[in-house]
This record gives sequence, C-alpha cells and structure tokens, in this order.
Amino acid sequence: MTTTLPAKVIFDTDPGVDDAMALLFLHRHPAIELLGITTVHGNASIDTTTRNACYLAERFAIEVPIAQGAREPLALPKSAPPAMVHGDDGLGNVGQSFTPSREPDPRPAYRWIIDTVRAHPGEVTLVAVGPLTNLGLALKEDPAIAELVKAVVIMGGAFGVDGQGGNVTPAAEANIHGDPLAADLVFTAPWPVTAVGLDVTHRVLMRNADFARLRDQGGEDGEFMWAISRHYVDFYSQREAIDGCYVHDSSAVAYVIDPSLFTLRSGPVRAVCDGLAMGQTLQRPDDRDFPPGDWDGHPSQRVCVDVDAERLLALFLDTFIDAERSRD
Ligand code: BDR
Ligand code: CA
Repeated sequence: MTTTLPAKVIFDTDPGVDDAMALLFLHRHPAIELLGITTVHGNASIDTTTRNACYLAERFAIEVPIAQGAREPLALPKSAPPAMVHGDDGLGNVGQSFTPSREPDPRPAYRWIIDTVRAHPGEVTLVAVGPLTNLGLALKEDPAIAELVKAVVIMGGAFGVDGQGGNVTPAAEANIHGDPLAADLVFTAPWPVTAVGLDVTHRVLMRNADFARLRDQGGEDGEFMWAISRHYVDFYSQREAIDGCYVHDSSAVAYVIDPSLFTLRSGPVRAVCDGLAMGQTLQRPDDRDFPPGDWDGHPSQRVCVDVDAERLLALFLDTFIDAERSRD
C-alpha cells in the first residue's frame, strides 16, 4: 500500500473573510501540511491582514510562522480596501476584541518564501489567494526559486469561460487587479501555475443553510465562520441576489486537496498591466493556433474552466464536521 504524504503548503493571503475560511480549511484537512502564512495587502491594509493572520493562528492554534508581506502593489498606488465586502477589520466587523500576542517573523514575506522553498526544494506548493505582490517580489529577488517550487495555485483571474467577466471591473478579478504586474510575473515564470478564477468560483455557491450547518456541526471553527460571514453574505446577497456567497479562496485549497474536482485548460497566460482592461487575464489555449503574439515563449499554465461544485462543497463542509466529530 502506498501512502501519499501531505502537501507542504505556504499560504499567501490577505485575510479577509474567505481567506480566513480557507486558512481553517488548510489547517484542518489531513492532506495538507501548512508550513507558514505570508500576508499581503488586499482585502484590508497590510497591518490589518497581518494582525488578522496572527489572530487566526493564535485563536485556532495554527502553530506555523507568519511573515508580513507587501504593503502595496509593485507598480501601482494601493487602492482603498473593500470594506463593503470584508468589513473595516477585514473579518466581517464582528468586533474581534482579542489582541494577538503572536508576532510575525522578522523577515519580509518574500524572503521567508525564498528561504522556505530553498529549505524544501521541489516540495512546496504556494497557495496564493490575494494580490500576487509577495510572489512577484520573491521571483525578482531570486528567480531560480521558480525551478524549486512544486506548484503554484492561485485564486485569481477571470478567463471569459461562458462570458465570465471580472468582479472589480468588467474585465478584472480583484486579486489580479490588485497587482497586475506581479500577476504577469507569476504567470510567465517557469513554475507550474494553476489559476482558480471566477470562471469556477462563481459556480460554487455556499448557501446560508450550509453556513448554518457549519455553525451547528462544525464546532468552534463553524461558529466562527458563521459569525464572520454575515457581513460578507449580506454583500453578496444584495449585489448578486444569491442566498449565500461564492467560494473563492477555499476553491484554491480544494484544488490542492483534490484536483479531480476541476476541468483544466492549458496555455500561456498574461495579465493586462494598464489601461481600461487592467487586471484582465487572457490565456492562449494550447490547442488553438494564432499568429505570433505576446504569449509566445511563455510557459503553458493551467486555468480551471469547470468544477464539480457539489463535491467541492461537500469536501469543505465534511472537513470541519469530521474534524469536530473526531474531537468528540
Ligand atoms: C478574491 O478577492 C477577495 O475579495 C477574496 O478574498 C478573493 O481572494 C475574489 O475575487
Ligand atoms: Ca483573498
């Protein structure tokens, strides 16, 4: 009998309500060995996302290093955080009064990523669910790490599958729009990238009834997710007229645990770095012929174009419900 070792994961994140849920998913699933958390600007300021990462790690006994990352994108001014989505505190405005005593690692996130990848050559999966600034900085500082990383899985992009557009502009998804230059560096580097974008995350709907099940059967994790998600679900209910919210960041985690949930399309990917369509992501599928263009000479990457949404949701919910049962 062969046993598969857990995937060694660095989680690069901007917590963020759905980031917090994805972190708990990584922490609880036995197929994952979380090596560390790196924070980035995005859903809130870097001070707030780092504070939230420290808070989550301490509250849920996630005993891994945390390294603070970039305060702003590589080449753009930082835009105002989306408080209407994640709350002023990034965690749904539920008044987390607890002040974390955990302190981040003294190294900046990009350096911590480089050191950790070099300590585990060929073994590390980078799961990045915010703007890609830290990964871009790591590539600029030490381009050779691209050959040492096992895989990069990002939540980001909108690739036009069945007409899917962006969520912060008609063209752009938030994480790519948050640092398009870094995204383009990540997509064009010689490491295997899989993009879990809006084309699939908008097909995975977590209903209020699912949150209620988590609250009732998922122990402290479930109660916490119920509480922090109220503001987030209100935003989605009003904007998209859905009874719940889309599953963004946890879909990237689900890909690492079970890639068979997704259908992939291969081809080089570029991000538009300025102008009206800034942050748009465009793939040149490997099975299509085009005249010479901006995709030439770049590695073929994977884009998720379909998902088994029911199975993904079951994986997410069962992870917490099973973990709670095993504590009984
Ligand atoms: C992405 O943007 C953020 O608001 C979420 O945390 C997610 O990573 C979805 O576009
Ligand atoms: Ca995020």
